[in-house]
Amino acid sequence: MSVELVEDETQFYFNAKKYWKNVPPTVDGMLGGYGHISNIDISGSKKFLQKFLRDGPHKIDTSYALDCGAGIGRITKRLLLPLFKNVDMVDVTDDFLCKAKSYLGEDSKRIGNFYCSGLQEFAPEPNRYDVIWIQWVIGHLTDSHLVDFLKRCKTGLKPNGIIVIKDNMATEGVIMDDVDSSICRDMDVVCRLIRQAGLSILAQERQENFPDEIYHVYSYAMR
Ligand SMILES: C[S@@+](CC[C@H](N)C(=O)[O-])C[C@H]1O[C@@H](n2cnc3c(N)ncnc32)[C@H](O)[C@@H]1O
Repeated sequence: MSVELVEDETQFYFNAKKYWKNVPPTVDGMLGGYGHISNIDISGSKKFLQKFLRDGPHKIDTSYALDCGAGIGRITKRLLLPLFKNVDMVDVTDDFLCKAKSYLGEDSKRIGNFYCSGLQEFAPEPNRYDVIWIQWVIGHLTDSHLVDFLKRCKTGLKPNGIIVIKDNMATEGVIMDDVDSSICRDMDVVCRLIRQAGLSILAQERQENFPDEIYHVYSYAMR
């Protein structure tokens, strides 16, 4: 059972917003000082996504992706834009989305929309996306907001589309981080919330070659 650690929801979101407002708009900022693991992360994600790009029952189209909690577009630039014709980005921090325009360079022309919004309020346009990528941001949503957001993402998928969550997993239970105002859930809790949203997990994989001292990171593909 998950313990809902968030006592004051308004404060939880307010503190996270304040935290990110003070983070530099750089790859290192996006990764809390672990900018050096970005290449390994992107390579692992590419390998994971390949399962859905080759022929098979779960093959996806490559027209449109949505990057959730996109920040400056670290994932959009290196993973999504090379694979998808267009990408939309959503993040709560407007400074990051502003930076994305220069960080992505010429390719920023292929960004359809820069949505500045908390995911707890954001509703993807129905039937639009082949992939909805949600990385290192689910800890900023309460359980019920995460479930509701995933339900809205399901509506945002094209018929063969997938949602990918890639995030830190606690060993056991739910751990609060007061510094950035987030929570880290264990895999059982995350999987339960995914199921509550009416989604089925198609694949899961642990990210290899990350430093020993950080949380284990898992990718889940679902629809
Ligand atoms: C750890 S960074 C990850 C950025 C990006 N996903 C990556 O991996 O490079 C977390 C991002 O989530 C954004 N964020 C925090 N709370 C959010 C919320 N409630 N809704 C949308 N974005 C949020 C922050 O502004 C920040 O860009």
